Amino acid sequence: MTAHAVPVEELARKSEAEVRHHLDSGKLVEGLAHMSPQYLAGIRRILTVSADTELVSAPSYLRAASHAPALNNFGSAVSIIQDELAHAHIGYRLLGDLGVDMSALIYEREPSEFKYPYAFDVPLDSWYELVLANALYDQAGFVLLSDVHRSSTFGPWKRALAKVDKEETFHLRHGRTWVKKLSADPDDKRRLQESLNWMFILTLEWFGLPDDRKLHGIQLEYGFKGKGNDELRQAWMAEVVPFVDEVGLRVPAHWDQERQRYTIDCPFPAAFDEERKQWLLDDGPISWDEVMVRWKRRGPMNRDYVNRLQKGYRSRIGVAA
Ligand SMILES: [Fe+2]
Ligand SMILES: [Fe+2]
Repeated sequence: MTAHAVPVEELARKSEAEVRHHLDSGKLVEGLAHMSPQYLAGIRRILTVSADTELVSAPSYLRAASHAPALNNFGSAVSIIQDELAHAHIGYRLLGDLGVDMSALIYEREPSEFKYPYAFDVPLDSWYELVLANALYDQAGFVLLSDVHRSSTFGPWKRALAKVDKEETFHLRHGRTWVKKLSADPDDKRRLQESLNWMFILTLEWFGLPDDRKLHGIQLEYGFKGKGNDELRQAWMAEVVPFVDEVGLRVPAHWDQERQRYTIDCPFPAAFDEERKQWLLDDGPISWDEVMVRWKRRGPMNRDYVNRLQKGYRSRIGVAA
């Protein structure tokens, strides 16, 4: 990001003590005038992850939308995609206000530099997978953004997320309505289950390393994040597991009454065959370091999706040059 942004020290002049004092008096951070370099670096990082995730969901969902059973279903999918582009725009606009060159960030970055979760690098190849993405991925986005909405100390984003949250609720409802409907038919249910087998575990991974491995004190203190990764993973399972149980689908997780938490019933984290979209569960669990190697390498659709997003801009610049 540094290549596309004014250095934080040039724009954010407050000390950590001044930021804390401002927050302690019950006020929100409203812009650069209230930020320390560390605050600015942190909020840029989390806004980039969020905006990149929203942006890449557009080509991912569009690819799957071509399998819509009817034209009006395609229309619903496209309206979701339109929402996601607007959500991405909110994030990038805020980054623009924070000294980041938005065009360079969106259109000139290498695909591997994008910061969205690995799950979006795996292609969605059917309508089943699109509606499951709405039920699982949009639920993950909702859990994470609700957490930011609650805990964020950055006023402009906090206010914008009120609208985003409402639209995500619509995406979720779209996913759940379809999953419920398709689960009623044995053949459709079988297809859903096949996709759920790889998508459920991939979304579990989305929340990242367990909290004992990753401590970002500043993320919690400045409200970039309210809950830890494991807590967020639990919050997601608390929404998804009862729902899939209700429609008669199976996932490798259950509520453990004794421990008062959801337990994952398969090796986790595990190795993933991204070409066949299958978890190699028989090989047992792997380390998070190994997971991070896969994440860093990015997955099958990374180049394709980012190139698609950048194509128009690049050809326009090419013509103008
Ligand atoms: Fe979104
Ligand atoms: Fe969404």
